[in-house]
Amino acid sequence: MIEKKIISAIQKFASSILKNSIDQIEIEKSLNEIHAYFQQITKITGYDLTIEHMAAIPANKGKALGLNFAAQCLLDYKRTVKFLKAIVSVILEKQKKQPGELINIFYAGCGPYAPFITLVAPLFQPEEVQFSLLEINKNSVGSAKKLINSLQLSSYIKEFYLADAVTFKVPNSDSFHILISETLDAILYRECYVPILFNLLPQFNKNIILIPENVLINLSFLTDSKKNSDCKEYETGSIFNVRESVSSYTGTGLIPSKLPDKKIDLASVDMNIYKKILLDTKVHIHGDVWLYRNESSLTIPHEFILEQPFLYNSVIFTYFMEPEIELKCRFE
Ligand SMILES: C[S@@+](CC[C@H](N)C(=O)[O-])C[C@H]1O[C@@H](n2cnc3c(N)ncnc32)[C@H](O)[C@@H]1O
Repeated sequence: MIEKKIISAIQKFASSILKNSIDQIEIEKSLNEIHAYFQQITKITGYDLTIEHMAAIPANKGKALGLNFAAQCLLDYKRTVKFLKAIVSVILEKQKKQPGELINIFYAGCGPYAPFITLVAPLFQPEEVQFSLLEINKNSVGSAKKLINSLQLSSYIKEFYLADAVTFKVPNSDSFHILISETLDAILYRECYVPILFNLLPQFNKNIILIPENVLINLSFLTDSKKNSDCKEYETGSIFNVRESVSSYTGTGLIPSKLPDKKIDLASVDMNIYKKILLDTKVHIHGDVWLYRNESSLTIPHEFILEQPFLYNSVIFTYFMEPEIELKCRFE
């Protein structure tokens, strides 16, 4: 019975990462083993070359990652472990604060393996936690349902929606304690995390715990490519703080097509010594759990050439959500 084996592998893995009694090599081995079981059960390998498995799905704003890439996220080892730890610790914190209360989790963008339920629920009882899942990709929904049934986790599921989280109206939104939405890529390019927050956050209770809690994009200038050991980095700080932008937005209630400009004054910086611009994504998962530079595909830094001689006084960043989701910059 592969189901029995996998259930015990998941329980062993989840409790060992929580106790920090497992090193990186063991983590990777265990996640590879769990992935192999998930592949067998769902028949989603993450490497199937059909268009259906590769193509991104257009959302109302932005695009949802193709099925293969969503499946491969499980093997973004540090990301997966940090998210799992954060989710379990938030559930435990909630249980401590409100003993006996059923904890309702809204999981937007579960992907084909729904790891933030399939690797979390076995640590709790269905009377303690209930999950409502939402996913835009019908093949992911089919796969996640199959996996959840095989792992005998159906009793933890309240609802399963095939829908776009950018426009979805959440029924009984007041009943939720935790919102999970790992729907982002490095430099918040193309994927839907920001418009999803614009749509979902105002619907929930103001005490909802969001995972990941926030994403920051930081700007640095480099004297050389980061690969070169002599490279010096001048950090100017954050040019985009998602939670700040979402909460300070005073628009019409509709998701804006772009966010207000962020201007960085460079008049006092000796810009002629720099050859590159570096944009760094920092993912604040929860509490003191962060994903830092190069720890995950979500936090790969992006380098761009800085044209010299540099003849400007400032750089201005604008985050667009239409026609495409992307961060653009201009010099003035
Ligand atoms: C980065 S993957 C993560 C999958 C899984 N949660 C994990 O951690 O392995 C993001 C998932 O969110 C889904 N998604 C992205 N944008 C969405 C949207 N606007 N509405 C619903 N689902 C979305 C994608 O289809 C994909 O399955």
